[in-house]
Formats: sequence, structure tokens, C-alpha cells
Amino acid sequence: MTSAVRVGVLGCGNVGGALVSLLAREANAIEARTGIRLEITRVAVRDLDKPRPPELNRAVLTTDPNAVVTADDVDVVVEIMGVLDPADELLRAALAAGKPVVTANKELLATRGVDLFAAAAAAGRDLLFEAAVGGGIPLIRPLRESLAGEPIARIMGIVNGTTNFILTRMTEDGATYEDALTEAQRLGYAEPDPTADVGGFDAGAKVAILASIAFGVGVSLDDVYCEGITKITATDIAFARRLGYVVKLLGIAEQVDGQIGVRVHPAMVPATHPLASVRDSFNAVFIEGDAVGELMLYGRGAGAMPTSSALLGDLLDAAHNLRQGGAGRAPVLSTAKLRSVDDLRSQYYLALDVADRPGVLAAVAGVLGNHGVSIQSMEQQGLGDEARLVFITHVAREADVQKTLRDLESLDAVRKIGGLLRVIGDEK
Ligand code: NAP
Ligand code: HSE
Repeated sequence: MTSAVRVGVLGCGNVGGALVSLLAREANAIEARTGIRLEITRVAVRDLDKPRPPELNRAVLTTDPNAVVTADDVDVVVEIMGVLDPADELLRAALAAGKPVVTANKELLATRGVDLFAAAAAAGRDLLFEAAVGGGIPLIRPLRESLAGEPIARIMGIVNGTTNFILTRMTEDGATYEDALTEAQRLGYAEPDPTADVGGFDAGAKVAILASIAFGVGVSLDDVYCEGITKITATDIAFARRLGYVVKLLGIAEQVDGQIGVRVHPAMVPATHPLASVRDSFNAVFIEGDAVGELMLYGRGAGAMPTSSALLGDLLDAAHNLRQGGAGRAPVLSTAKLRSVDDLRSQYYLALDVADRPGVLAAVAGVLGNHGVSIQSMEQQGLGDEARLVFITHVAREADVQKTLRDLESLDAVRKIGGLLRVIGDEK
């Protein structure tokens, strides 16, 4: 028997417009497969005069999102507005009114997720968010359901398409960071203000959500160490390639000695690692579990249609659970014992421009040695009266490497500290 489920949509921009079109196209097939008929009954926007998809019945448009979440003809609410406020209070109002909610809002979940999950649990309604991380790639449901019993050790993800596109152009075409960013903006990957992407904060929000679900603890964006790609140079990329590595911006969540470490930074990934082959704006998440071993989920991490596909899956799940009279399992998040990035142990790549004169190499090596940072290999390139020194260290502690950098900066002969990259391999 078919049941109609009435959907209230908050936001009809890039993603909301695609969701309207996808649902119009697929409603009959979905009904035939699932017995659920999804019908959009209300859509909130800011501006009634903006163009909308031709499939949208304009009579359902309103500029009052509160009216959507409390309406009698809305059973499920989907939020794709992309702001913290008023999205937060709207989702709470929907849950309080007994309506499940589906959202793509990673900022909201990464900053206020713990409270929102509690509100959903108290209301006995779903709060689903597959679209918030990795666009169209199923990540949240596999983590919550298929891997619910798995002792996950580490998740490493390429979860920002813009930065992966920029690094791919720098690696494959020799583009400068600035030229690759301009191309990403021209193609619509990067925003006019690219800070959230290139600064690592978009990836930080996503990895905070992944860490929360994978480890069952509340992790917020403030708990994530975020370092972006703005300082990566052609030298770093070329050197990495010579050593058999590819530079990627990684979001990493790991469990070490009962503590959870969550960080975003560019890293040298061995060219043989599955993440090294993730190119352009694609995303992938690599999961290491004690029982399951290694898994990788790969696909379109952004874009209106892939994101709408994830939203539709959540809408159907919420509609199914509502028909059964309740919700699926809500995440139970305990307080995280967080591991400081200072305690990370990794190999490092370090590039320095120094004055090319006697004693400089010894002085630089002395600073590394003073902090217990042992050199595995070193290469020097002449640059006129300067030289570029590139070190790969043995496994060292992050705090010691940071102290090393501070002392190197104060050396008269050091003209510039170039790249610092963690090397994926033996780190813990
Ligand atoms: P967008 O194009 O800016 O659309 C936002 C929509 O929300 C617009 O329709 C806007 O109305 C409406 N809106 C904003 N504030 C409102 C308010 N106070 N009252 C009523 N309507 C309001 O954004 P988007 O790219 O679709 O992204 C939406 C969400 O999806 C964000 O959370 C984003 O992080 C997430 N997401 C996006 C992607 C992607 O590829 N774009 C991928 C994954 C997740 P007007 O149209 O009238 O301005
Ligand atoms: N700006 C993001 C990216 C897409 O480049 O991956 C939305 O999450």
C-alpha cells in the first residue's frame, strides 16, 4: 500500500533546486520501489522572485520558514539553507512538532550536533544528515549501521573537493597554487571567498561529524586541528613526487590509547595508497578497522545532484521510520577524551630556504637535534646565494617539531620556513 509523505523544504538554492527536480523525475519510480510517495508541499526561500526549477509548483513557495516546520501538511522537513541560524531553531521546532528532519548542514552539526541529536532523541524523531559529509557518497549510514560493531582505528578522508582539485592541478599540470585556485573558482568549485575550503575548515567540520559517528563521541569543529593548503608550493609537490608520494589534504580521525585525535592538514600520501589515486574534485574516505580491515568509499563529494541523491535516501528512511511510528537508532555520543595534535608522532617533510654559507647546515641540524628530531634524509638545492634544504625526519613528536620550527625561525641564516608536511606511514 502506498503512503504519501509530505515534505517541507527549507531552502531552494543549488541543492534544494536539484532536489526538487530529482524528486519530480523519480517520484513514480520511488513509489513503485518503496511504496512511499514523497510530495513537496511547502518550500521556504528568502526571495520569491528568484528563478526556481520549472518542476516546482510556485504556489508552495513562502518566505516564512517557521510556517513550513509547523504546517499541518508537512510530515518531514529537509533543511538545505546553509546557515546556523535560523536553521538550528527551525530544526528544533520541527522535531518538537514530531517531524523528522533531514539536513545537509555540516556547520550546524559540527558545532551544535550534540544538542540537536539530544533534541531528536527526546522527540523520538530522526535527524538524518548523510548529505552533510561527502555529498553523494554513502558514509554516515555505513558508519552508523554496517560498521556499528566495528572497532574503527582510523578514518582518513579527502573530504573537500575544491582543495583536491587544486592539489591535482598543481601535481599533474605544474600549476601554481594561485592559478589552480583561480581555475577552481572559474569552474564553480571554490567560492569567491575560498577560506572555508583552502583553510581546511570545511574538511574540519566534515571530519568532526565522521569522528562523532565512528567513535560515538561528541566532536565539534573547535576540537579539530585545521591546517589548510595555502602554503603548499610546487617545490613541496615535486619533492613529494620524487620520493614516491602525492600531496593531499586529509581529514583524519583516529583512536590512539583511548583518546580521539581529529585533524585536517596536507600530508604526503604514498603513491601506492588508495587515497593517492583520488583526483580532481572527487572525495574518498579510507577506513581502517581492526576486524574489517581497510575500506574505501569514493565518489562525488559535492555538487547539487549527488547531494540531492543523499537527501532523497534520508527522506525515504525518515518517511519509512515515521510510517512505523518512530525513528531509527539515534547516535549516542559520550564526552570525547581528545588527543592533542602535539602528541602526534609522525615522519615530517620540512623545507627551508637558508643563506648558503659555511656552518648553516650544521646550525640547522643542531636545532633539529636539540629537540630530538632525527633526520632520515636531506637534500640541498642551490638558489644563488641561498640554498633550499629539504629534510625528511624519522618519526618525531609534533610538539618537538613545532619547537624546532620556532627556533629555526630565529636563526639569522634561515630566510624562510617553507613547507611542513606530515608523512602518512608510521605515524601514531
Ligand atoms: P544556496 O544555493 O545558497 O541555497 C540556500 C537556499 O536557502 C536559498 O534558496 C535561500 O533562499 C534559502 N535561504 C537561506 N536563508 C534563508 C532564510 N533565512 N529563510 C528562507 N530561506 C533561506 O546553498 P546550497 O549550495 O544549496 O547549500 C545548501 C546546504 O547544503 C548548505 O548547508 C551546504 O553546506 C550544503 N551542501 C551543499 C553542497 C553543494 O554541493 N552545494 C554539498 C553538500 C552540502 P533564496 O534562494 O531566496 O536566496
Ligand atoms: N566546498 C565543498 C567542497 C563542497 O569543495 O568539497 C560542500 O561541502
